[in-house]
Amino acid sequence: MADLAVILGATGGLGTAIVDAFAARGDRVIAVARSRSGVSQLQSRYPGVVSGDTADLTSRLAVDDLWERIDRLGVPRWVVSATGGFRGGKVADSTPDDFTFMMDLNLGSAWWSCRAAARRMQAGGGIVNISSRSALAAEPGAAAYAVAKAGVIKLTEVLAAELKASGIRVNAVVPAIIDTPANRQSLPEKLLQKAVAPAEIAAVIAYLCSDATSAVSGAAIPVYGRY
Ligand SMILES: NC(=O)c1ccc[n+]([C@@H]2O[C@H](COP(=O)([O-])OP(=O)(O)OC[C@H]3O[C@@H](n4cnc5c(N)ncnc54)[C@H](OP(=O)(O)O)[C@@H]3O)[C@@H](O)[C@H]2O)c1
Repeated sequence: MADLAVILGATGGLGTAIVDAFAARGDRVIAVARSRSGVSQLQSRYPGVVSGDTADLTSRLAVDDLWERIDRLGVPRWVVSATGGFRGGKVADSTPDDFTFMMDLNLGSAWWSCRAAARRMQAGGGIVNISSRSALAAEPGAAAYAVAKAGVIKLTEVLAAELKASGIRVNAVVPAIIDTPANRQSLPEKLLQKAVAPAEIAAVIAYLCSDATSAVSGAAIPVYGRY
């Protein structure tokens, strides 16, 4: 029987490629984002394979409600948390909103989704979170984002340790720059030349969500390409 995969942040530049990778290999996919229209597009692209739902994944209550709906469709074997976003700035210049927005969107969304998944998943399953090179290589101008994404790596390590005995693996991938439509509009050509195709990162995520990597848990795998 096909595995069930929950892809969170499924309509984004990376999330769409993750849905493509899991659908292509024959998994059933539950695609989640805030926008109904984005999720509906994915459903129409893969009728009978992708089902969609919407939730504000920064909200603990909304995440818990979402998972009560997911419970009716089954227990996922794979969960990928690709929700996130960037707002720049230095520590000294940051506003309270800069801080909470970055923490909620990048760390909170992963935290609440991991919590809900950990309460349900069974041996042989796996979770993949998305961090960022900013978490590992400090540079000025991405303060709250970098700290939140560092939290995503530590969350991954802690949860991997907690779930080791249950046979559930938890890993993270760590992109530098992804060749997304949004980055094509906003980044200079010099940086775009180093960007990695979303499909290349999705392939690593799909590999982590497979029996071929049954010995891998607690890892944060750089997917920097030529960056
Ligand atoms: N792009 C890069 O170069 C890059 C580099 C390093 C790491 N990353 C990380 O990789 C991940 C994917 O990046 P991306 O470029 O694909 O991002 P993206 O295109 O902005 O997509 C973000 C996804 O998350 C959803 N989302 C945003 N806020 C949400 C919320 N509050 N509740 C539920 N869903 C929400 C979006 O859909 P809705 O707006 O409809 O909710 C969308 O599906 C992120 O974690 C990002 O930080 C990206």
